[in-house]
Parts: sequence; structure tokens; C-alpha cells
Amino acid sequence: MKIAIAGKGGVGKTTISGTICRVLARKGEKVLAIDGDPNPNLSVVLGIDKDTPPQVSLSTDIIERIEDGDSWKFQVKMPFDEILNTYGQDAPDNVTLLIVGKPDQAGTGCMCGSHTVVRELIHSALTSENKAAMVVDTEASLEHMKRGTSKYVDKMYTVLEPYYRSLEAAGRFADMARELGIKQVEAIANKVRTEEEKQAIEEYCKKINLPIAVMVPYDENVTAADLKGISIMDYDQDSKMIKAIESFVAGLN
Ligand SMILES: Nc1ncnc2c1ncn2[C@@H]1O[C@H](COP(=O)(O)OP(=O)(O)OP(=O)(O)O)[C@@H](O)[C@H]1O
Ligand SMILES: [Mg+2]
Repeated sequence: MKIAIAGKGGVGKTTISGTICRVLARKGEKVLAIDGDPNPNLSVVLGIDKDTPPQVSLSTDIIERIEDGDSWKFQVKMPFDEILNTYGQDAPDNVTLLIVGKPDQAGTGCMCGSHTVVRELIHSALTSENKAAMVVDTEASLEHMKRGTSKYVDKMYTVLEPYYRSLEAAGRFADMARELGIKQVEAIANKVRTEEEKQAIEEYCKKINLPIAVMVPYDENVTAADLKGISIMDYDQDSKMIKAIESFVAGLN
């Protein structure tokens, strides 16, 4: 299973991605968490100690530029499993984290931008033979899902919050995802506090034909854990947010 989590800035993509990974892993799945954000912070949500030094940093050197007739294309130099062995990082509950969002610019190599590196690496992961469940935490754009990558994603979830601009943005993400050829796009509503908010989300999503996979409540424990720099999974097992993600994960496949 390969899923991508998208949405506007700050809606909760990383919190939700990381929690999905840990809940899946606790059910016995081998999970690969891919952090595609240029400001990577999935590691804390996954439960990696915030003082752990970052893993070996990826560099743009990992990509080569290949002549292709009159033009050229980019390609990752090594097989994906070698990338994972070199740059992957162990996280609790049998999750492996691969941070791809912030490659170091090498002086040599492909001379390509970091966007190209991220896009190619995500493509390499999704098209590899690796059987792990993959969860991609995207940055707040769908730039990385281009290059035909989208067809390897089983589902994309667009995270939204209960206010109008967020709902509208989720609609745009869903349209873009469909244009990119992603077969299934659904919403994850996050930080929902009241029945009124729930209804407004339901109404809007119905109007734009966007199924809602789960309603995740606003949860003070999430912000409290975030303030301490620890994973919600290590803060309060019985948290409302985790319960919602558990029911979401139970409905996957
Ligand atoms: N269900 C929730 N209840 C309360 N707070 C939440 C919930 N989900 C996320 N948050 C809080 O919202 C803030 C943004 O969350 P997060 O970093 O996961 O969003 P993001 O979409 O990944 O942001 P960015 O676009 O910057 O990558 C954090 O402070 C997080 O603790
Ligand atoms: Mg994030």
C-alpha cells in the first residue's frame, strides 16, 4: 500500500502521516515513512528522539543527467534498496524513515534543483520492488508527485481543517491530484471541534464530490506533545487523535 498525504501548510499532514505510520507498524506492517518536506520534521512524530543527529544527508549527487535524444532526463544512480540502506533511519515500531526533502546541493553531480532530486527519489521509492507500506508526507504542493509518480500511489489524502479557505484549498488539491492521474483521492478532516464544523465539512465535501476518509478531532494532547517535541504515540496512547487514526487504518486496504 502506498499513500501520499497532501494539503495546505499547517493542516496536520506530518502529524497525521507519522501517526498512520506508527499505527500501521504496530499492526505488524513493515512501514517506510518518506519525508518529502524541505523542512523535515516527520522524525519527531515517528518517535525519534529530537536530539538524535540527522542521518547521513542525501545530496543532489545521487541523481545523474542522462542524454535522451535531443533532450535529457534525470535518474537516480543507485537501486532504491541501496538508497534505503545508506540513508534510511530506524524509527520505533519497525518504521524506517527516509528524509528526501532537503538534499544538500553538491558542487558536482546532476546540477539539478532539489525539487528534481525529491521528485526522482519519491519516484524511485514508489516504483521499487520494496514491499513496505509507504506513506509520503508531502510539502504543501504537489510538485513532487509529477513525473508520472502519481500512478504508483494507491491513494492520496488531502488534509483539511474546518475553515473555508482550507476547504477550498483541499478541493484544489483534489482536482490537481486527479489531473495528475491519482486514482483515488479522499479527504482527512483534522482538528474538528464541534458538530457544526463537522457538518460544514460534510456539506462542502459532498458538493465537490470528495469522500471523507475520517474526521480527526482537535486534540489538546497533540499540541502538548508537540510542545515537548515528542510523538503523540509516546505521550498518550489513548488520545482522541490516535483513536481516530486507528479507525482510519482499520479501514485501509
Ligand atoms: N488533531 C489535532 N489536534 C490539535 N492540534 C493538531 C492536530 N493535528 C495537528 N495539530 C497541530 O497543528 C500544527 C501543524 O501540524 P503539522 O506540522 O502536522 O502540519 P503540516 O501540515 O505538516 O505543516 P507544514 O505544512 O508546515 O508541513 C502542529 O502544531 C500540530 O501539533
Ligand atoms: Mg509537515
